[in-house]
Amino acid sequence: MSPQGSRLQGKIAIITGGGSGFGAAIARRFGEEGAKVIVTDINVESGEKVAAQNPANLAVVDLAFSKFGGLDVLVNNAGTSYQNKPTIEVTDDEWEQLFLSGKIVLPRLIEQGKGGSMISISSTGATRPRPGLVWYNASKGAVTNATKGLAAEYGSHNIRVNSVAPLLSGTGLFSMFTGMEDTPENRQKSVGNVPLGRLTEVDDVANMCLYLASDEGSFINGAEMVVDGGKCV
Ligand SMILES: NC(=O)c1ccc[n+]([C@@H]2O[C@H](COP(=O)([O-])OP(=O)(O)OC[C@H]3O[C@@H](n4cnc5c(N)ncnc54)[C@H](O)[C@@H]3O)[C@@H](O)[C@H]2O)c1
Repeated sequence: MSPQGSRLQGKIAIITGGGSGFGAAIARRFGEEGAKVIVTDINVESGEKVAAQNPANLAVVDLAFSKFGGLDVLVNNAGTSYQNKPTIEVTDDEWEQLFLSGKIVLPRLIEQGKGGSMISISSTGATRPRPGLVWYNASKGAVTNATKGLAAEYGSHNIRVNSVAPLLSGTGLFSMFTGMEDTPENRQKSVGNVPLGRLTEVDDVANMCLYLASDEGSFINGAEMVVDGGKCV
């Protein structure tokens, strides 16, 4: 059980892909710290389930301004991958599913005039690509790079833009990334040379996002926060 607090009291946050994995943990953690959280997910059923677990969460899409009168935090978490495979076998449809969002929100944050925090979930693969997930990793490289560009461009509006780069985790995407079923044995096989001896837990990512979303992170801008137990040193 995570601690309850008020680190995000009065803040309004949108979490994309909040129905599962990292996004669900971020939504719960933000709710525990007092934020009003709007969860979006293409899987409506799981999005509503996460929203129901905390009364502060609402499973609605883009209602921040009309319902709550503003927005403080956007977490670009929604993402997918294709099954780990040789790059020349990736189909056009699989390639097109990888995307970067956020440009709808920036003009609204500028217009609002009180700054904000935009956090994108990248991956250790952004800077340490491995075989079999080349276009996925390239899309995360774009997230990390765009984060830095946006941070430089919109900092003058007090809009902070940062990315979080997790290592492999036992979420819905585990088998896509590894080509193996998500079992404790298979997770152990993937631990490899992680100095802290485990994979990323969803709360590792949620707690980093909490820091970046809160006023404690008010001078952090354009950073790639690596959450990997030291794997990529
Ligand atoms: N799991 C890992 O090992 C790992 C490692 C590094 C980065 N990531 C990244 O973390 C993010 C979250 O993934 P996860 O591991 O929690 O996976 P997950 O599959 O458990 O959760 C992703 C959620 O996003 C939703 N989603 C997918 N496309 C969407 C869209 N277009 N619009 C709205 N919702 C959408 C899915 O329905 C799902 O609920 C992704 O960006 C992923 O690339 C994952």
